[in-house]
Amino acid sequence: MEHEPRYSFVHGDICDEQVVESAVAGADAIVNFAAETHVDRSISGPQDFIRTDVLGTHVLLEAVRRHGIPRYLQVSTDEVYGSVVEGSFIETDPLCPSSPYSASKAGADMLVLAYRTTFGLPVLITRSSNNYGPYQYPEKMIPLFITNALDGQPLPVYGDGRNVRDWIHVQDNCAALDLVLRQGDEGQIYNVGGGNEIENLTLTHTILQALGLGEDLIRFVADRPGHDLRYSVDCSKLRALGWQPQVPVGEGMAATVAWYRDNRPWWEKIKSGEWRRYYEVQYRELHEPDSEAAPDR
Ligand code: DAU
Repeated sequence: MEHEPRYSFVHGDICDEQVVESAVAGADAIVNFAAETHVDRSISGPQDFIRTDVLGTHVLLEAVRRHGIPRYLQVSTDEVYGSVVEGSFIETDPLCPSSPYSASKAGADMLVLAYRTTFGLPVLITRSSNNYGPYQYPEKMIPLFITNALDGQPLPVYGDGRNVRDWIHVQDNCAALDLVLRQGDEGQIYNVGGGNEIENLTLTHTILQALGLGEDLIRFVADRPGHDLRYSVDCSKLRALGWQPQVPVGEGMAATVAWYRDNRPWWEKIKSGEWRRYYEVQYRELHEPDSEAAPDR
């Protein structure tokens, strides 16, 4: 990819108007993947999320306006709808975000839609469910649990582990975004879900089994404040464009576990840097003397 003549990388801040200005000139399309994404970090420090996710989106929208960019795709999240006990959200459902992260993404979505209504910008929005696969930063549950397990470290399950997430392989998500970018209707929102709703505790067992490890590594820790119980999105609108997920979750998870097992140098480097300071503060409970015992649940 890096060797493609059409590829260039500009290292800059999405909130820096000058950098954005020079990067987007002449573009056929902008896809905004830039975001602060981790819910726990948004609880310990919301400010970066408002800045990058909301203000950064605003900088991009202004650039789209000024340069007359013909297509703008905002990469959003199923978390903007909030939690749902039964059924699945459709694109016209009201937004009800629970965390500073999801509120910042919902705010950005609103801004994108307002720029469509007010200025007629050629925007699209995708709202994806939980991604998994290779190269995921090990703050997210799956890479954190796999790499901790590989190191014989505890797997910190929040609350009672009954929360449900809908897992989608990153390749399926990217295929959906590519399709929406090329064939989606301007001004429209498209949900992107893997159709694999799994309780966290079940997924934890799957990871341990794939590595041939026992349940003794599981630690129930204090729940995430405002932890949404279940996310679920209806993807009929996206499927009508011709998309369907290609990676069966069993195969995808097994390949993902194998990837982290075989690519230790990649994540070891990350886990020795900024990540470690974050982990020690976020998971302080794991290092406290009587954290071994699972509370009554
Ligand atoms: O739903 C899409 C969203 O998925 C994206 O918009 C977010 O950027 C992405 O971070 C992800 O959000 P989640 O909060 O669902 O992902 P996370 O990997 O942090 O957590 C998945 C589930 O696992 C969630 O119910 C919380 C739980 N969990 C997570 C961590 C990090 C634990 O039980 N223990 C943990 O240590």
